[in-house]
Amino acid sequence: MDYFEINGGNRLRGEVTIGGAKNAALPIMAASILCEGETVLHNVPDLHDVRQMQVLLGKLGVRCERDASGAMHIRVEDEMNCHAPYELVSKMRASICVMGPLLAKRKRAQVSLPGGCAIGDRPVNLHVQGMETLGADSDLVNGDMLLKAKKLRGAELFLGGAFGSTVTGTANVMMAATLAEGRTVIESAACEPEVVDVAEFLNACGAQIAGQGTPRITIDGVTSLSGTEYTIIPDRIEAGTFMIAAAITNGELELVNCRLEHMLAIVDRLRRVGINVERVEKGVTVSSARRLETVDVTTQPYPGFPTDLQAQTMALLCLADGNSIITEKIYPDRFLHVAELNRMGAHLRKEGPTVIVQGVKKLVGAPVMASDLRASAALVLAGLIAKGTTRVNRVYHIDRGYEGIEQKLAAVGADVSRVTE
Ligand code: EPU
Repeated sequence: MDYFEINGGNRLRGEVTIGGAKNAALPIMAASILCEGETVLHNVPDLHDVRQMQVLLGKLGVRCERDASGAMHIRVEDEMNCHAPYELVSKMRASICVMGPLLAKRKRAQVSLPGGCAIGDRPVNLHVQGMETLGADSDLVNGDMLLKAKKLRGAELFLGGAFGSTVTGTANVMMAATLAEGRTVIESAACEPEVVDVAEFLNACGAQIAGQGTPRITIDGVTSLSGTEYTIIPDRIEAGTFMIAAAITNGELELVNCRLEHMLAIVDRLRRVGINVERVEKGVTVSSARRLETVDVTTQPYPGFPTDLQAQTMALLCLADGNSIITEKIYPDRFLHVAELNRMGAHLRKEGPTVIVQGVKKLVGAPVMASDLRASAALVLAGLIAKGTTRVNRVYHIDRGYEGIEQKLAAVGADVSRVTE
């Protein structure tokens, strides 16, 4: 199992190119199940989760290969198999995104229920309810959700749950509705840029979707979609992680291929902490050379502060001058990094879905355990500034969502290396 060894204390300086958004690429790859002919995707990050989606699509009869330039060519070759089995879905929850496309195109989707997850309960009831409202019959077979529909019919549906809208649920129902008969209106739709990217991709394939990026999405069903060439948006979570890397090391980074307009909540919090974030011709510069002010952070659905940057922001606020409060409103249990950061000298106290961060003067290196993707990123960030050596174990979590993070960090001055045991 690989681990990262990080010797903290180096200020980061230089340019980092941000990759394509994982959480847009995965549903868009799944959406290609709906298309006739070839789809070519650019800016698909080379990540473990993406390779996992390629394996799943392969099982579903979809050929999915990269050319020498890195572009991904996707073509449906066989429509017989409609089953996303437990061995694959349990490894990657985004596998659920094949549900809508399979049901709409092949009239049947058998998708294993994903089961437990390190960041908390992650039900898919809203996805299933959405498909039922479009006319699908559902049945639970051996831990799999089996959905069938001779014909999907457009409908008005509400996709809000106890924790707000659902990102992949909105994408799933939207994908299914593209080939339904008539008009579908999704109320309380997720507004995340990744959902907008899925809608833009589908429209480029011939779908008729309007209102993406707002809580009400309208989809007028069409009879077929054709593959197209499309470029995935930059990953705002990777960009936010590198912004925090600049901030935590008192460094200065220029982020290329970064869409600041997708990141206003994180930029607002970082500026209040005292970090300079400026738009420049090629992207964004982030610099910090002063003490860190405290700030309170509450995660919310977009355009609120993203849960996927909560752990990394906590690492930064560990070093702020006073107390900060972080409240998690999407995944109230997404705090496995708290105990690990405390092992590095942080003063964090969890009270229900809130963590009180008491700023400390320094963090100290320690062996720590990555528990999920974003928690691992937080530990790497803490390691960049900790005194001494930090060993982040189980970095396979980080490989799921960050392409070569240790190489990108090393290229701008971090002392970090991957060790294969
Ligand atoms: N929820 C339900 N019922 C559902 C679906 C969701 O109650 O049917 C609840 C969830 O339990 C959660 C909230 O609604 O409390 C929001 O969950 P959502 O469905 O929006 O999450 P997701 O679509 O499963 C995506 C990202 C996550 C990201 C969340 C929230 C992908 C592939 N995954 O998950 O990304 O944290 O949205 O923004 O898009 C990551 O990249 O590290 C990651 C976990």
